[in-house]
Amino acid sequence: MAGLAVNVDHIATLREVRGVSYPDPVAAAVLAELAGADGIVVHLRDDRRHIQDRDVRILRKVVQTKLILEMASTTGMLGIALDIKPDLVTLVPERREELTTEGGLDLVVHKTIVTETISTLQNSGIPVSIFIDPDPEQLKLAHQANANMVEIHTGAFCDATTSKKRNHAFRKIVDAVKLAHKLRLGVNAGHGICYKTIKAFKGLKEIDEFSIGHSIVSRASLVGMERAVREMLALVKEL
Ligand code: PXP
Repeated sequence: MAGLAVNVDHIATLREVRGVSYPDPVAAAVLAELAGADGIVVHLRDDRRHIQDRDVRILRKVVQTKLILEMASTTGMLGIALDIKPDLVTLVPERREELTTEGGLDLVVHKTIVTETISTLQNSGIPVSIFIDPDPEQLKLAHQANANMVEIHTGAFCDATTSKKRNHAFRKIVDAVKLAHKLRLGVNAGHGICYKTIKAFKGLKEIDEFSIGHSIVSRASLVGMERAVREMLALVKEL
């Protein structure tokens, strides 16, 4: 049975847009674990737009399941990962101007640096996954780079606007998942998965874990709205 790792980046996004101390992604991580999440994911970006260094350090102490750190393959981030020792590092591409991680890490271009980063992390006992597009060439390069796992980018499937594009994108995911399994790579999947698109993955047993953030945080803000309003209303009525 596949696991669910919950990405709490967008709890931090809500905090950062106001420059205040709440909502705290650490509190969200604890609640996600209480609900049964198999892991907590955070992306510490170079521009620190949501998750901050303090969050990762506290999460390392608080998370009881496993802490997955998404990061770019840079010297600065490598130093932080070696210090914090997450349970898994997922290497992702990063561009300052992007809204979110837009594509997989291109190993045709970055294989040398990625291989070095993987080796350094593994020598410190940290397993490494690489976030890649569902492309056989990228999978073979991930295998050559000695990654422990890959995370298959599901964005093209989840964001497809026609059924033809959706079916085509899903076929690529299925082929990539099977190839990764054949290459004995662990397989995670993520990006853009929501309460509707998750259903398509039924029966794809080779996927170890789904990494899901935005749809869960979005839904939490709606299913929690009624209670939040009631609580404030009670305080107002007491005035
Ligand atoms: N996996 C990776 C590598 C990501 O960069 C992200 C987005 O932060 C996710 C999964 C989660 O995507 P979403 O927030 O759309 O569920």
